[in-house]
Amino acid sequence: MDKPKKSAETGASDRMHELISLSKRRGFLFPSSELYGGLNACWDYGPLGVEFKNNVKQAWWNVMTRQRDDVVGLDAAILMARRVWQASGHEAVFADPLVDCTNCKHRFRADHVIEEQGSLDVCPDCGMRGTLTAPRQFNLMFKTYMGPVEEDAALIYLRPETAQGIYVNFQNVQQSMRKRIPFGIAQIGKAFRNEISPGNFIYRTREFEQMEMQFFVEPGTEDHWFEYWREQRMQWYLDLGMRREHLDWHVHGDDERAHYARAAVDVYYEFPFGWHEMEGIHNRTDYDLRRHAEFSGKDLTYYDDQKKTRYIPYVVETSAGADRAALAFLADAYDEDEVEGEKRVVLRLHKRLAPVKVAIMPLSKKEPLVTLAHEVHGKVRPLGLAQYDDTGGNIGKRYRRQDEIGTPYCVTVDFQSLEDQQVTIRERDSMQQRRVPIAELYATLAADLADA
Ligand code: GAP
Repeated sequence: MDKPKKSAETGASDRMHELISLSKRRGFLFPSSELYGGLNACWDYGPLGVEFKNNVKQAWWNVMTRQRDDVVGLDAAILMARRVWQASGHEAVFADPLVDCTNCKHRFRADHVIEEQGSLDVCPDCGMRGTLTAPRQFNLMFKTYMGPVEEDAALIYLRPETAQGIYVNFQNVQQSMRKRIPFGIAQIGKAFRNEISPGNFIYRTREFEQMEMQFFVEPGTEDHWFEYWREQRMQWYLDLGMRREHLDWHVHGDDERAHYARAAVDVYYEFPFGWHEMEGIHNRTDYDLRRHAEFSGKDLTYYDDQKKTRYIPYVVETSAGADRAALAFLADAYDEDEVEGEKRVVLRLHKRLAPVKVAIMPLSKKEPLVTLAHEVHGKVRPLGLAQYDDTGGNIGKRYRRQDEIGTPYCVTVDFQSLEDQQVTIRERDSMQQRRVPIAELYATLAADLADA
């Protein structure tokens, strides 16, 4: 339920067009159900897309759980009891204001129309005056039924946020892992929202993935942890190479905050279509645990045996979208330069995020070069996805194809390699080349990829 701010840069639609076209052409993303004309705002990640997005999620999981002692992981079911969403407040208030145009029949989010044109006087699509209806609230949760009978008693929802799976497991995790407050629970998983105006590629979709962490703290310490986590989350994007000038904070005003949040700040990214929310950091107080205690009748208090106090913990949440982050990393990495008088498209992705880590390129398809090249390929496979590229075209063209998908290293196996057992490593950004012994290739690349 984000709120756009300020301008879009010039040439924005060209940049988006380039990104979408590259994504399709090179196997990052395809429109869902394309054979049947596509399904609005749903996307499928192709062979390179799934590697790339997995790398984004892995980078998050590593920093948020494995490298910390105070955060543990969880993978809760998408389908949860309906009472969860009654307790959380989503059934009653997780809604966006909707207006319809009585002329062109198109539907809009009232807050977006007001943001863009100041009032609801004119339809943004057909331009007719006075045709937009009064706003009405539209609940964003997808409904379905558990079991064979479609009756009210069987109604459940596809989760609109992963956070609730964490709250209802708070005690299970705390007790089984013997965690002391402060500690957090992290989860990556699908979420679903029946968005009124999805769009901008994978920015706003109806099925998406969240990377969320709920940090449980002693009441009174939440402001400290809120500041701590907002800095941590900004640093994560910077550490993965995102440009600082494309990142900003957006502090939520009273009219913007979700029903559960006392304070909220977004990490904003300057997408090609303007500044928009990429991640939210929220002070959710004890709202969720208190509501679940009320609705379930269970005691969800925590006993601090050192301070001899009992309380319902407060929660600081970090909530990032894996797809939005992926789009931002792609947009940030996209670059064009000129090599030997020709345009080169290069994705300057952080090495950790690049879908293909290394490409092996034999200079010829003839033996015994091919056998040696396959041997070299086998040696570098443990580094991550290693592509064997013996497709036609000169070596320059093959480099360009790897640059376009962000491959940090290309390794050329040439006739000289048969003599001296050395290969050439060519680096994506500097385009510099160096010869290394095949025996040292794995260690050399592993070291380069590790210190990224
Ligand atoms: N648990 C809190 C929560 O869900 P949110 O601000 O509604 O907060 C958090 O969503 C993040 O989830 C957003 O910052 C965004 O990255 C991602 N997200 C939300 N709706 C999305 C959508 N329709 N498509 C893609 N990502 C979405």
